[in-house]
Amino acid sequence: MTAHILHAGREDAPAMARIHKSGFAHPWDEGALRNLMDKPNCLTLAAFEASRQLVGFVMTRQAGEECEILTIVCDNKKRRSGVASLLMMHTLELSRLRKAKRIFLEVASDNRPAIRLYEKHGFTEVSRRPGYYRQGRAAPEDALVMARSLD
Ligand SMILES: CC(C)(COP(=O)(O)OP(=O)(O)OC[C@H]1O[C@@H](n2cnc3c(N)ncnc32)[C@H](O)[C@@H]1OP(=O)(O)O)[C@@H](O)C(=O)NCCC(=O)NCCS
Repeated sequence: MTAHILHAGREDAPAMARIHKSGFAHPWDEGALRNLMDKPNCLTLAAFEASRQLVGFVMTRQAGEECEILTIVCDNKKRRSGVASLLMMHTLELSRLRKAKRIFLEVASDNRPAIRLYEKHGFTEVSRRPGYYRQGRAAPEDALVMARSLD
């Protein structure tokens, strides 16, 4: 896939909210996305196709030498074409440049596509939070905490 990765701006929030809705049962709205984007320790990268169509994005937050992936999502019509991988590669590189030494995230233990994506980019499970995800689910689901070094 030929997508370009750029820093997202506040004007991208409507497209980001649409894509977040396509990927999550409890999506973040434009206001919540803008609030995060406004924070100085938050990095928002978006994947754009030609004609500046936004097809995915990733948000990270850095605290000292640790960086957390807050969300990553690809438009459901564009999946499996390398968008999330491209976003992840840029995130890892930029986090290194910002002197982060470790990056981590949380993922539901039944989210196989996301877990495979993270494994492909070097993340391993470091802990598990039993029954962490409950909202909107028939049964509670564990959260996996996955992390990797940026050295
Ligand atoms: C997880 C998600 C971001 C992947 O986005 P994507 O752009 O389709 O991913 P890519 O095409 O870059 O795939 C990269 C790798 O991820 C893994 N992967 C992605 N989708 C997969 C699937 N449906 N099944 C198995 N592995 C998958 C594969 O290892 C893939 O590499 P490969 O194509 O060489 O096999 C996307 O499915 C999504 O937006 N899901 C909803 C939101 C979500 O769950 N986000 C993560 C929350 S923690």
